[in-house]
Amino acid sequence: MAKEAANYRWNSSEAAEAYDRAAPVIHPCYEVVQNEILKLLPFDAEEPFELVDLGGGSGRLAERVLERFAGARITVVDQSVPFLALAERRLARFAPRVAIIECRLQDWASRGPVSPRPEDRISARRGHVDVIVSTSAIHHLEPAEKRALYRACFTALAPGGMFINGDEFRPADDAAFLALLEEWSTHMRAAIANGDIPESFANTFDQWHDRNIRRFGDPKKSGDDCLETLDAQMSYLRDIGFRDVECPWAAKLWGVIVARKSSRIS
Ligand SMILES: C[S@@+](CC[C@H](N)C(=O)[O-])C[C@H]1O[C@@H](n2cnc3c(N)ncnc32)[C@H](O)[C@@H]1O
Repeated sequence: MAKEAANYRWNSSEAAEAYDRAAPVIHPCYEVVQNEILKLLPFDAEEPFELVDLGGGSGRLAERVLERFAGARITVVDQSVPFLALAERRLARFAPRVAIIECRLQDWASRGPVSPRPEDRISARRGHVDVIVSTSAIHHLEPAEKRALYRACFTALAPGGMFINGDEFRPADDAAFLALLEEWSTHMRAAIANGDIPESFANTFDQWHDRNIRRFGDPKKSGDDCLETLDAQMSYLRDIGFRDVECPWAAKLWGVIVARKSSRIS
C-alpha cells in the first residue's frame, strides 16, 4: 500500500471498526438514508438484479439489500482493507451473491465495473449494472473526480439503470454550512463523551474538526471532505446524460440523489 493510502484516515482498523459499530450515531440520518435507498429499488423480492455499492465500507447497506431482495447480486467496492475485512465477515452468509473489490473509486472510474466473480463475465461488462448506490463516500472526491466517477457510472449502467447517492452535501451559504458543521461537531463530542461512539474514534473526529472547522474555508484536496451542493452534483449528473435527476430526501448535511439512465439504447 502506498504511504499516502496507508495514512488515509479510513484505512486504520480503529476508525473502520468504530465506524461500523457506531454508524447510526456518528451519522444521525444513517438509517433514514438507507431506508430511502431501499424504497427506491424497483425490484420484486426474487427478481434478479446487479447492484454495485461504491465506497460500501463494512457492507451494512449491502446486507440490508441482500436480506430484502433474494435476487440481488452485489459488488462492494472500497479502497479500505479494514472496512472490507468487516464487509467480508458480515456478508459471508450471502457468499455466492457477493463480490468484494479493493479499489479506489478514482480507479474504478477509469477501469469500469470489473468483478472478481468468474461467472460474472457477462454481468460485469460495461452497461450491465442495474443499480449503482453509494453512501457517505463520494464526498471524499474532489469535483473533477466526482464527475469522472459519474461518467463511469453512466457507462456501467444498463439502459433504465439507476444511480443513487446518499451522501453529505453543503448549503451554498458559508455561514449556514459552518453552522451545520458546528451542530454535528457538538453532537459528536457529546456522543464520544457519553460512550455512544467508541473512544477510538476520537482521533478521527479531532482530525475532522481541524480540517473542517478550525480551517473552515481552506482549499480542499482529494480525500478531504469535499462537500458540494445538491444542485452542483445534480447538474454534473444531468450534464453527463442522466435523466430524471431528483433529490427525494434531504436534511441538514445529508441528502439522497437519484438519477436514471434512459431505457432507450441510443
Ligand atoms: C463513512 S464510510 C461509509 C461506509 C459505508 N458506505 C456506510 O455507509 O456505512 C466512508 C467509506 O468510503 C470509503 N472511501 C473513501 N474514499 C474512497 C475512495 N477514494 N475510494 C474508495 N473508497 C473510498 C472509505 O474507505 C470508507 O469505507
